[in-house]
Amino acid sequence: MQSICTKVNDWITYIGVNDRLKPLFENQWPLPGGVSYNAYLITDEKTTLMDCVDMHESERFLSNLQSALGERTLDYYVIHHVEPDHSSTIPLIKSLYPNVTLVGNKKTFEFLENFYGLKQDHRLVVGDGDTLSLGQHELTFTLTAMTHWPESMVSFEPHDGVLFSQDIFGGFGTLDGTIFDDEIGDLQPVYDEACRYYTNIVGKYSKMALRNIQKLAGLDIKMILPVHGPVWRSYPEKILKLYTNLAQQQSQNGVVIAFGSMYGNTEKMADLLGRFLAEEGVKNVQIMDITKTHASLISTEIWKYRGVILGAPTYNNALFLPMKHLVEILSENKMANKTLGIFGNYSWSGGAVRELKAWAETQPFELLEPVVEVRSAAKGEDIEALRALAKAMAENLASHAETDNVKYYAV
Ligand code: FEO
Repeated sequence: MQSICTKVNDWITYIGVNDRLKPLFENQWPLPGGVSYNAYLITDEKTTLMDCVDMHESERFLSNLQSALGERTLDYYVIHHVEPDHSSTIPLIKSLYPNVTLVGNKKTFEFLENFYGLKQDHRLVVGDGDTLSLGQHELTFTLTAMTHWPESMVSFEPHDGVLFSQDIFGGFGTLDGTIFDDEIGDLQPVYDEACRYYTNIVGKYSKMALRNIQKLAGLDIKMILPVHGPVWRSYPEKILKLYTNLAQQQSQNGVVIAFGSMYGNTEKMADLLGRFLAEEGVKNVQIMDITKTHASLISTEIWKYRGVILGAPTYNNALFLPMKHLVEILSENKMANKTLGIFGNYSWSGGAVRELKAWAETQPFELLEPVVEVRSAAKGEDIEALRALAKAMAENLASHAETDNVKYYAV
């Protein structure tokens, strides 16, 4: 098999792989652009594998590893994160290199035993601030619990300022020949998929993520090597800033109207709201159909903007099912710094608006008045109520204008 190894510098080789077969990350988040599993080999007085890949891509990965190792054997294997997209190749590595020393923290080994029954391995247990000399280069470990899992940790090599950041600073999407940030050209799709990755995979743990990112920001980082997405060798400050904005749950000025509609009447209300917001001078309005756009894309847009307006019909005396799914995801992601509007269709019994209002009470959002509920199709007074909701949203956004002037990508 032809291996693809790319020199990052004179002591690190990229040996990761792309995955274009897996349809869903964690079997729930769509991967229209695939995903990369990044792994690196350090060649020093000791050889050290930095993370692994998903088992079903092991053949190409092993080819890369063996090619990069040449005649040498593997001395260390640093396990920054045990989620199986990075760790399921561990038993194979152990069988090929039985004398390799696994490096992880206490929780790493607890999880490895739970997942793979690894007990009798050569191991080095490290803690926060511990170091490991590989010869010319020394790694310092920082525990980054809950970014993404409890055992997550990163390592830093101070001489060249290299941060092996595991999931942190990662994103969905394959590396299409372009391993490095400066090879890509238009970075917007990378930023978009980093936002979707952060919101849905890490977002729930933002408080801890922010603490971890701030801890790392104090290092003299010159290059970031994550386990997903490009290697940031020219613009590490850009992905650091984007992740900081995400973890701080900064709001941009704008509104996401997320609606579901069975026969177009609730959709018409969404369109009216969009027009009324524009007439009020609100910029950055997006109208998203929850039945046609995956919830992970909608939740990502909602994460970035202050305003969110949810609208749905009543279905069998209750909330339209796709909207139930969306609000569950918003709750799960622990959204903050939001101003919420609600509209919906009573149908013959009501239920959608009642459930959305009950859900809103569980969220740390500012709920706007009026909440608009119509009977089957919006008419005169309903349309005026929608206009009033748009006006209330515009005023609310204006009141937050000073703090909401962040631009997620303006770095
Ligand atoms: Fe890429 Fe949390 O695993």
